[in-house]
Amino acid sequence: MAGRIAVIGSNMVDLVTYVTRMPAKGETLEARSFEMGHGGKGANQAVAAAKLGADVLLLTKVGDDTFADNTIGNLKACGVDVSHVVKVPGRSSGVAPIMVDPSGENSILIVKGANDDLLPPDIEAAAEDLKRCDLILLQLEIPVETVYAAVAFGKRHGIKTLLNPAPALPDLDPERIKDATFLVPNETELAILTGLPVGTPDEIATAALSLIGKGIETVIVTMGSRGALLVTPGQTSTIAPVPVSPVDTTGAGDAFIGSFARYFVAGDALDVALGKAAAYAADSITRRGTQKAYATEREFLSRAATPV
Ligand code: RIB
Ligand code: NA
Repeated sequence: MAGRIAVIGSNMVDLVTYVTRMPAKGETLEARSFEMGHGGKGANQAVAAAKLGADVLLLTKVGDDTFADNTIGNLKACGVDVSHVVKVPGRSSGVAPIMVDPSGENSILIVKGANDDLLPPDIEAAAEDLKRCDLILLQLEIPVETVYAAVAFGKRHGIKTLLNPAPALPDLDPERIKDATFLVPNETELAILTGLPVGTPDEIATAALSLIGKGIETVIVTMGSRGALLVTPGQTSTIAPVPVSPVDTTGAGDAFIGSFARYFVAGDALDVALGKAAAYAADSITRRGTQKAYATEREFLSRAATPV
């Protein structure tokens, strides 16, 4: 039986400029092209899971501007349940100016706007619907108090929680995230969370294990083109990368988490769900943008059959 996923997180309008190189301080540089798209780590993860056929509820706040209705329309078109998407009067929607270079690497600025108004009482307001979910996905583009409240809500009601500590927040309180079922940092976020070096595979494993020691059940470290590392109290294993030629890596981590969630709640074993997530994230970086680059399940299955 397929499970239900909730995302308590952000939405942003991505303003993406494709540059020949990153501009230097004080420099004016002409870029080749510009595209607008729907992003935000929370919405990205929700859309990835929904495009793959999962039942997904998104708790998020939009502003009162032209971006808001477009965002809600896009979420609906992608199959996300928007009954807990709230408009905040007098606020702007979240936006993310992004630069992507020819190797597909990016630099991202975020302006949270209405995302900053998603507060712990909003979790209580949605409690009845959240209680029907099997997994809650969390990131750090909303107030951290809301993230802590969501982890506590999951613990209280026996709902698994996954925290993607992105963007990195140096003073995240270890006591208030230790009840998360899954912690999914990238290497930089892992270094900031633990204060430990992450220069080699051994160092990454040691740093991830230190989090297990603090109470987290499962740590999954995403390592870009080097795949991912799964660390549980009894096991450390590597998830092999799926090699592709990158066009735009923006939102690859979100594609990984949303697709992992979709296959995990459907009953796949951890390593199986993570293998599919690695393939789904790799597929997403072969196209421009974030949500618009995410494949539907039909597209994903047909492409996965073709060796890359
Ligand atoms: O993780 C990628 C996302 O980060 C982008 O879509 C952007 O909106 C920022 O939130
Ligand atoms: Na992409």
